[in-house]
Amino acid sequence: MSAWWLSRHFLGSPASITEARRFVTRFLANWPIAETAELIVSELATNAVRHTASGAFGGRFLVTIEAAHDRVWLGVLDEGGPRFPDVRPCGQDDEGGRGLLLVSALADSWGVSGDERGRTVWALLKVGPVAAAGAASCQ
Ligand SMILES: Nc1ncnc2c1ncn2[C@@H]1O[C@H](COP(=O)(O)OP(=O)(O)OP(=O)(O)O)[C@@H](O)[C@H]1O
Ligand SMILES: [Mg+2]
Repeated sequence: MSAWWLSRHFLGSPASITEARRFVTRFLANWPIAETAELIVSELATNAVRHTASGAFGGRFLVTIEAAHDRVWLGVLDEGGPRFPDVRPCGQDDEGGRGLLLVSALADSWGVSGDERGRTVWALLKVGPVAAAGAASCQ
């Protein structure tokens, strides 16, 4: 069960990626995984803007943070499209393909739900018991 959760919509523009990063660092400021969470959301928000209908005129994406005592779940819901989030093996494409590889390396687990009308790409970060206690006391 989550201790708290927050969601916020962002316009699907490149400038919103910085705003989404700030949203994460603001609400996870005292958590030891704050920087990792920021990096993950940055990659997922960038993908939403670059690869989905969220990046079209008037498009939006939704960032959700769900925190429990020992874990933080991060999700970015986009407005869909024909492409599918796909981790490319290292070295296959010099032009990109590092974002989801990075997310898969940083997160304890990650995944995709939804379909071409809108997908949530999510990542779960576990927090150690001592670290979680410290984060909770500083909220
Ligand atoms: N939210 C998404 N919806 C649909 N397709 C996606 C989404 N995110 C990623 N993809 C697809 O998965 C591929 C791999 O994504 P990834 O973030 O690893 O690389 P990239 O965005 O192409 O490049 P980089 O992140 O290194 O700048 C993308 O090229 C795109 O085709
Ligand atoms: Mg990417």
